[in-house]
Amino acid sequence: MKLPEIKTGSAAALELGAEEVRRYYDDNTRLFLSLGQGSEGTIRRAVWGPGVSSRQQAMRYVDSLIVERLRGLDSGNGLPLRVADLGCGVCASLCFIAQQLPVAGTGVTISSAQVELARQRIAGLGLSSQVRCVQGDFCNLPAGLGPIDLAFGIESFIHAPDGAAFFQQAARLIRPGGLLMVCDDLLAPAAARQHPDAERWVQRFRDGWKGFNVISEQDAHQLARQAGFEPVETLDLTPYLEIRRPRDYAMGALMRCLGWLPISGSYWSMLYGGHALQLALKRGWIQHLVVIWRRS
Ligand SMILES: C[S@@+](CC[C@H](N)C(=O)[O-])C[C@H]1O[C@@H](n2cnc3c(N)ncnc32)[C@H](O)[C@@H]1O
Repeated sequence: MKLPEIKTGSAAALELGAEEVRRYYDDNTRLFLSLGQGSEGTIRRAVWGPGVSSRQQAMRYVDSLIVERLRGLDSGNGLPLRVADLGCGVCASLCFIAQQLPVAGTGVTISSAQVELARQRIAGLGLSSQVRCVQGDFCNLPAGLGPIDLAFGIESFIHAPDGAAFFQQAARLIRPGGLLMVCDDLLAPAAARQHPDAERWVQRFRDGWKGFNVISEQDAHQLARQAGFEPVETLDLTPYLEIRRPRDYAMGALMRCLGWLPISGSYWSMLYGGHALQLALKRGWIQHLVVIWRRS
């Protein structure tokens, strides 16, 4: 008789973490798309960076940074640049990019519900020859996706059950000289997190947003180096987020009344984590960064 396979602790934890995130997005994607900050199909926050004058542009700000970087790359063979979105939601970023530049885009998401919505979006925009969406775990990517000239992850990195695996898989995917861009919420340097409440609020953010991988920029650089990347640039987008809106104060009041009750329901958990994140950003314990690395 064949004995059942025993997984190592970390492999099992990795699968459990990814499974938890898959359920979270399968259950809530439609809600996030209809109640989120924009109507462009993105599941992320608006960034009112330099030159932005409308909500639509704010929702596209990070995509525009990626387009800028792509313009500086050459596939080396005259073919369209190969781009991958690690944690692609419904492929709104890749569709936007493909409307600006000739690219071959692959989006990877853990959620089957998102794959279905992404495929409808891609077909609806007539982009099926340029963009595809596949279901997969960016910590254990399906074979045959690379080589890629530029891979990016917008507000997906914090969900990685294993930060080292995220970079190792990205290194497998990206060609030497290619770029990796991560836009997410990273811990501020330790000196900025000395306040006695800091760790409690950061933990609340992690719990609410399934943030298994909320790490500092310094730790991210270390994992990236170990996987074969060298740092290129870091942009701090924190000042451009919407942090002090009336709805944030209203949410703060609601959380003060109800927030310490045991959480039930993943949408409630998202609100709970989101409030903690707002506070941590405001107090400087977390930063919203774009970090760029080159595959050496
Ligand atoms: C906050 S949403 C951001 C979606 C998209 N980047 C955007 O900006 O609209 C996080 C995304 O990460 C994906 N994700 C989280 N963990 C993942 C994993 N282990 N493998 C692949 N995708 C993952 C989710 O399915 C979701 O699409």
